[in-house]
Amino acid sequence: MTSVEADWDRAPSLVDGAMSVELTPRRANLRYWLQAVPQGTLLGRPDGHDPALSVPEFMREPGPLRDALRAEYAFRSVAEEKATRALSYLVAIAPDTDTLEFYATQVLDEARHAMVFRNHLLSLGVPEDNLWQAIEAFAGADVHAVLDPLEELGLKVMRDDADFLGGVVLMTIVIEGALAPAAELSERKWRPLDPAAAEIDRGAGIDEIRHLTVGAAIAKQCLEERPGEKDRVLDLIRRGMHLWTVLPVQDLVLRREVLFQRGLEQHAAVVGDYEIWPGRRLVDTTPEERTATAERWSAEMKASRLAYIGLEEAL
Ligand SMILES: [Fe+2]
Ligand SMILES: [Fe+2]
Repeated sequence: MTSVEADWDRAPSLVDGAMSVELTPRRANLRYWLQAVPQGTLLGRPDGHDPALSVPEFMREPGPLRDALRAEYAFRSVAEEKATRALSYLVAIAPDTDTLEFYATQVLDEARHAMVFRNHLLSLGVPEDNLWQAIEAFAGADVHAVLDPLEELGLKVMRDDADFLGGVVLMTIVIEGALAPAAELSERKWRPLDPAAAEIDRGAGIDEIRHLTVGAAIAKQCLEERPGEKDRVLDLIRRGMHLWTVLPVQDLVLRREVLFQRGLEQHAAVVGDYEIWPGRRLVDTTPEERTATAERWSAEMKASRLAYIGLEEAL
């Protein structure tokens, strides 16, 4: 018996789920996770996807499609690893059992995401003994330009200042919240080309619904108990959002989509009439349209989560 929001077939999409599911740390404790995730979402999918799905041969051949997915998964694998390490500081300073258990499960979720993205690079033909050098080659520049500054801010708040509420808000609104829509886009666009990758994204998306909704519930509860913290938290959100505007994120995402587009044109026959969203064939979309859609999702999700927490002034 699994919870609908963690059920492989019945869970909503990440973007819908993050705006409609309500989940508290009281409910999403360790016991919930054991049933919902290892015995639910992950049942039969230890590598994040149905083991019967293999990577199509054309994804392993040199070309823009392989380059796009390798760059994306290398980057996301490093992002997940950084999240794993940073979130362990929230476990250390969690104020009660519910939040301690929840963040302990999130640490495992993020370590698992790092693993499945990294392992998929092997499925794409990257030799195992060369994996870390390959990750650096595929995504190192983007990691240093985008992830390192975000990590620095996260570690300052969670590790140096031991600021639990600040860390929760930073993860929920600024870091994961902003990256989540790109993950949903990824699932939708890789579906017809690399179904195993799409399943990896789907599984990570189901976990992300939980991370975003429980994180928001924790922040809301902390702020209700300590309303005097609100200005400080708003200030932190504004600092985080400012960071996104100065980091070269748009450039990175667009570059990835342009590569994907070249691959999409080469393999249009495989994609056929597949619709990326209702009424829109993937082959008819452009890099700009796809990135603009992910940005719109991001803005909608952020507004909805901020309103739920009671921090709408941040917008
Ligand atoms: Fe993750
Ligand atoms: Fe997450």
